[in-house]
Amino acid sequence: MTKGLFITLEGPEGAGKTTIIDMLLTYYQEQEKQIIKTREPGGIPISEKIRSIILDPKHTEMDARTEALLYAAARRQHLVEKVIPALNNGSIILCDRFIDSSLAYQGYARGIDMDEIWEINQFAIGNVMPELTIYFDLDPRVGLARINNTTDREINRLDLEKIEFHELVQEGYYKVIEKFPDRIRKVDASKPLEQVFQDTIAIIDHYLK
Ligand code: TMP
Repeated sequence: MTKGLFITLEGPEGAGKTTIIDMLLTYYQEQEKQIIKTREPGGIPISEKIRSIILDPKHTEMDARTEALLYAAARRQHLVEKVIPALNNGSIILCDRFIDSSLAYQGYARGIDMDEIWEINQFAIGNVMPELTIYFDLDPRVGLARINNTTDREINRLDLEKIEFHELVQEGYYKVIEKFPDRIRKVDASKPLEQVFQDTIAIIDHYLK
């Protein structure tokens, strides 16, 4: 049994996850909680390198199964090198995306059977699953408009997909939420940032008591 708390944050492009994670980190650090933030794909050097291969806008020829395997490989290394040690150390981990992204993007949206995506990810993660996942719910059109108006964010290969792809991602997430109703909690990310932050804290605090 691990001692920490593994929390993942999910949602479409432009839902504000990254900003909220930074706000959560500051908030809980001020309360002297032992907490770290990290992200997928990435979080450690090997997985950041895999990230740059997956998300390079020039890699338009990438096959969907190759993409799924690369995400799973990055996940494995990140878990072994960073997440599991931090959990054993008693930390709260805020992880920007995890397996649900693969189910929604590579599974539902790319049209690979979600059970197959689940299986390759089981190989990658064993039995390590988050205790809590927060889904930032937002119309993908609103999310994409937000990132197109932001100059300091990298535009990656998946951002460049058509709106239909991002709509499928959202449908995929809804299927995943139906499958894991106890683990995944939805937050309305169309509300003002401060409200989204407060709604998120209210959920997390429940798990800290
Ligand atoms: P980010 O923009 O939230 O950092 O995520 C990078 C992109 O990778 C984003 O478009 C979602 C996508 N992604 C997947 O398709 N599958 C996955 O398993 C993960 C972790 C991310």
